[in-house]
Formats: sequence, C-alpha cells, structure tokens
Amino acid sequence: KEMHNFLKELPKCEHHVHLEGTLEPDLLFPLAKRNKIELPADFPKTPEELHIRYDNFENLDDFLHFYYIGMGVLITEQDFFDLAWSYFVKAKNDGVWHAETFFDPQGHTERGIKMETVVNGFNRAAEKAQAELGISTKLIMCLLKHLPVPNGMETLKAATGFYKQGLIHGLGLDSSELPFPPKLFTECYSYAAENFGEDVGLTAHAGEEGGPEYITQTLDLLKATRIDHGVNSYKDDAVMERLARENVMLTLCPLSNVKLQVVEDVAELPVMKWLEVGVPFSINSDDPAYFGGYILDNYVVMHTRFGFDLNTWGKIAKFGVDGSWISSERKKKIH
Ligand code: ADE
Ligand code: ZN
Repeated sequence: KEMHNFLKELPKCEHHVHLEGTLEPDLLFPLAKRNKIELPADFPKTPEELHIRYDNFENLDDFLHFYYIGMGVLITEQDFFDLAWSYFVKAKNDGVWHAETFFDPQGHTERGIKMETVVNGFNRAAEKAQAELGISTKLIMCLLKHLPVPNGMETLKAATGFYKQGLIHGLGLDSSELPFPPKLFTECYSYAAENFGEDVGLTAHAGEEGGPEYITQTLDLLKATRIDHGVNSYKDDAVMERLARENVMLTLCPLSNVKLQVVEDVAELPVMKWLEVGVPFSINSDDPAYFGGYILDNYVVMHTRFGFDLNTWGKIAKFGVDGSWISSERKKKIH
C-alpha cells in the first residue's frame, strides 16, 4: 500500500502508449453503435466477452487483428478527442507528468478518415491536458510495417504540415514485426529527418518479437534515438553495450510483453542485466485497454517482480525524464 502510493507519486513520463490502444471495450461498443459501424460477425458481443478474448492473445499479430477492428469505430474528431482525453485523465491519476503518445494515421486514412480529423482531435485533447491537468505532451505518428513503404512515404508527405505547425513531434514504426525488418523503412526515416525539422524525435518498435539485429538496423539505418520494447536486446552483448554507450532508451511495456507472450512472466524480463550494463529504460503501458493495465499497473508489476529499492526507482524515474523529448527546463521541473 505504501509502495503503491510511492509509485503513484513518483513523477512518471510515458513514452510508449498507442492512443488507439486506450480504447476500452466500454467505449468501443457505444461508438460502434453511434457511428453505425458493423463489427465482424464473429466479434465478441459485449465488453465482458471482449475482455475475455483480450485475456487470450496468442502473439502480436493476434492482438493486432483486434486492435485494427477496434480503431475502426473512431470516425469523428470528437471520437479522437474523447479517446485521448480519457487517456490523459487516467495518466494524470497515475502520476504522469509528461506523455509522448503514439497514433497510427494509416489505420484511419485507409478507412477514409482525413488525417486532420485525427490530428486535430488528439491535439485538442493534448492542449486541454496541458491546460487543465498540467501534463506536457508530444504526439508521435507511427508508420505501419505491414503496409507498403510507398504508402508510408505518402503518409509522411501528407503529415509534413502538421510537423511544421508543431502538432506532431516524432516518427515511430509499429504493427507486425517479424516479416518486416526496420531497414525497409530507411527512406521514410531519412525523409522525416530532412523535412520535419532538426528536433523531430525518431523512434521505432524493434526487438519485441524480432531479434537484436532489428535493433541494430533501427540505430544504423533509421537513426532512431530510442527503441520501443527492445526486449530481445539481451540476446546480443554487443547490442546491450551499444545501447548503454549511446544512451539509447528502451521503452519497456511489461504487461504487454506477458499478454502477447513475449515472456511468460514479467520476472523473465532481463531487467537486472539492463541495470548492470547501464541500458536506460522507461516503463510504459503500450495498449492499456487491451492488456489490462495502465502505466501505474506496469510500475507495480515491476516492483512485485524485482523489488527495486528507492535508489533504483529514483534511477528509473530519472531515465524516463532524461529520455523524454522535452526542454531542459521542463526536465528540471519534473526531476
Ligand atoms: N501497435 C500497437 N501496439 C503495438 C505493439 N506492442 N507492437 C507493435 N505494434 C503495435
Ligand atoms: Zn507499442
């Protein structure tokens, strides 16, 4: 109980949460109804049934199937606003000071939704979160690895104006991992680096189901400065040492890793090895509506498995602040 309060009060920064992954079953069904979206015939019929299905994902792709059906109920700017706002309220309650949130524009433009509908809805929620909750935020657009690279390039070009206006701050890469190595997207990342301003943040999902070579490609070819997940880094000592030396933060999502069967239990994550070698990491929620817990739940499960002392928790909180894409003044405020 005391520890729970300590972890709640600990100033947290979230770097790995997909806004579409915060769509709770309790909101999914009413939105489907309101927007007259017909869910697939074999889709669970109630939030209770859907929660049960969510407890039984076989792997990343099995989850993604539900994730893309779920986001299909989001149509209007208000839907995107409501989704993000309810996430920010939960984040505030969990003790989040700064949130860098992912979204998947192609998951919406492929369905005929305009990118500006998505970006404006999310940004209105982000502005309200800054004004009313005091949370600083950044929006990171991700490209979907299962879609063709030219589609990704087109999406990037369409997003240029949003970067220039300061409405989007970073580029990520997500979706299905194994058949789509990061190197495929080299052109997309160099386009972003050249066209979106020098402080554009570059990150990518790598080493969740893919091996450590996916992490190496992400650093060498995409020039990313963070790695989302990066669990499989432990399989290559040279990669571990490089992450430590180059101060590349892993954005870990422990509950996600269990639900998607990356590990059987959080205790299997090579956390002590990362600490020993000096690989910085943050603790995040990924798709909390699908994986049964928000950021504080992820902190709590890490504590129950690893029993960090206060000193180590201080160090982890500092990794998160230092690895955030924020000004040094904002970092000082959070520290
Ligand atoms: N999209 C949403 N969550 C994801 C994850 N954990 N890995 C890859 N793509 C995702
Ligand atoms: Zn993710």
